[in-house]
Formats: sequence, C-alpha cells, structure tokens
Amino acid sequence: MARRPVVVRKLARLRHTVGRWRGAGETIALVPTMGALHAGHLSLVRLARRRAARVVVSIFVNPAQFAPSEDFSVYPRPFAADVKALADVRADLVWAPAVVDMYPDGFALRVVPDGPAAVGLEDKIRPHFFAGVATVVSKLLIQCLPDVAVFGEKDYQQLRVVAQMARDFDLPVRVIGAPTVREADGFAMSSRNVYLTPEERAVAPALHRVLALCAKKIAAGRPAAAILAEGREALERAGFRLDYLEARDGATLGPLAQGRPGRLLVAATLGRTRLIDNVAVG
Ligand code: PAJ
Repeated sequence: MARRPVVVRKLARLRHTVGRWRGAGETIALVPTMGALHAGHLSLVRLARRRAARVVVSIFVNPAQFAPSEDFSVYPRPFAADVKALADVRADLVWAPAVVDMYPDGFALRVVPDGPAAVGLEDKIRPHFFAGVATVVSKLLIQCLPDVAVFGEKDYQQLRVVAQMARDFDLPVRVIGAPTVREADGFAMSSRNVYLTPEERAVAPALHRVLALCAKKIAAGRPAAAILAEGREALERAGFRLDYLEARDGATLGPLAQGRPGRLLVAATLGRTRLIDNVAVG
C-alpha cells in the first residue's frame, strides 16, 4: 500500500513543510493541476519524481481562467480518488488551497502575459484564459518555490506561456515539458473527455489522426497552407466545429519558419466539449 501524500490547505503549513525539506538539502518539484487526474497528469508526477527528491502536486480549480460561460461550476472534482492516485505515484504533498485563500477579499493582481500568450490561438478564442493561468501559476510558484515545475505538452501554448513567464519574472525554477499521454486510439487524455457522449468519443480520435497526417505531409515538404486547408475540411466533415488548425514556430508560436522546429495546433468543439491537441512538425 503506497503512503498517502499529506494534504495541505493553508499556505503557512505548505511553507513550513517545503522549508523543512529545503533545510534538509532536498530538491522540490511542483506539478500544478486542476484535479480530475488521469494518466496524463500522473505521467507528469512520475517525471517530477525523477527530477527532484520531493514532489508537490497542486489541485486547484482556478476560477480566474474560466469565463462566466465556461464549466467552472461543473468541472469534475473527485478529490479523494485524486489523492489515492497520487499515493500510487508517490507524490509527497497535495497543495489544495480554498478559493478564498488563493484570492482573498480585495485581491487585486492580474498577471497579463504577452509573447506566446498573444499569437491568435487559444488567446483568440478564450481571451481571459492566459491571464488567469499566469496569475495562478505565478502564485503557485511563489508559494511553493520549487526547483522544477512540470507542465504537459498537451496544453502546448500554456507550456510556452509559463516558460516565458518564469524567465521574465527571473523565477529560480526550471519549467519542464512532458509528452502528451494518449489513449490507444491516439485521443489525447483530458479531464474534460468525460463530457463526451459515446458517439462523440468514437469520432474524437480523428482530431489526432488528422493532425498527425498534416504534420507528416508538411514535414515531407508539401506547402503548409494547402495541407492545413485539407485538414480543416476533414475535421469539419467528421463533425468538429473548428476554432483553429495552425502550423507555428515551436518555441515562439509565431509564424512557422523554414529550418526551425514547428508545431501543429488544433482546437475544436465536438458536441458540447471543446478539445485541443498538438503535435511536432519535422
Ligand atoms: P489541468 O488541465 O488539470 O492540467 C494539469 C497539467 O496536466 C497541465 O500541465 C497539462 O498540460 C497536463 N496534462 C493534461 N492532459 C495531459 C495529457 N494527456 N498528457 C500529458 N499532460 C497532460 O492545465 C491546467 O490544469 C491549469 O491550466 C493549470 C496549469 C493547473 C493552472 O490552473
């Protein structure tokens, strides 16, 4: 039986525990999550385990990154099952503050990122999103002061935004990206996949299939614009309502440039569920 991680809800206690570890010369990794953990999240924890002596996993459904029309109130919160899953991957501590402790009355800070957060991808569709993410992630990093922080490539733009933010704030943390964990049919795991009906779930793998096919054709030297137009059409035919399918520079998320690593990024809605995915090009 794996040992349960300690669940901490107050900042003073988090600081005390992390400070004790640091005093003993131990390194610390942070894996920020919103809970409803699946194998993708757990792979981040395993990676964190290999990079540091102690692993903190935060579980905080962050209201600041949801628009009023989005799913904050119904976002899945299976906390006990999450803690059990984290015991199996040997997390040391679960940092689960209440909303009123993260954002007390009179809270008046908003971290508004630019650069990779303003390239016309997620930021175009969800204009509130990256300020919400940057605000909470900067708070989590300052609360925990980890040596490394692990984020999934699944949310590729978020990973680039957080890496840039840590650099711009001079935070003494290494931001590490972890590969996307997929179902056997290629569909990227996500906490929101539970919203899909069985019929939609059967269609969902087309998202990754089309993405991978487009990446292969672009890497073979075919013109990106034509390939992306075909890809958009294939996805709409399959029943997706497309927000974007774009080829971008893998680091800046600006225009794709010859001879630099690229990234194909897609976002689309299936029924009532919004899905995102991405793959490397070349
Ligand atoms: P959440 O959606 O819970 O994701 C937490 C972390 O798990 C993110 O870094 C995300 O990229 C990663 N992840 C999700 N699905 C994955 C998959 N299939 N394979 C690999 N990694 C995966 O992203 C957030 O929460 C929030 O925006 C957060 C960063 C916690 C700030 O509130």
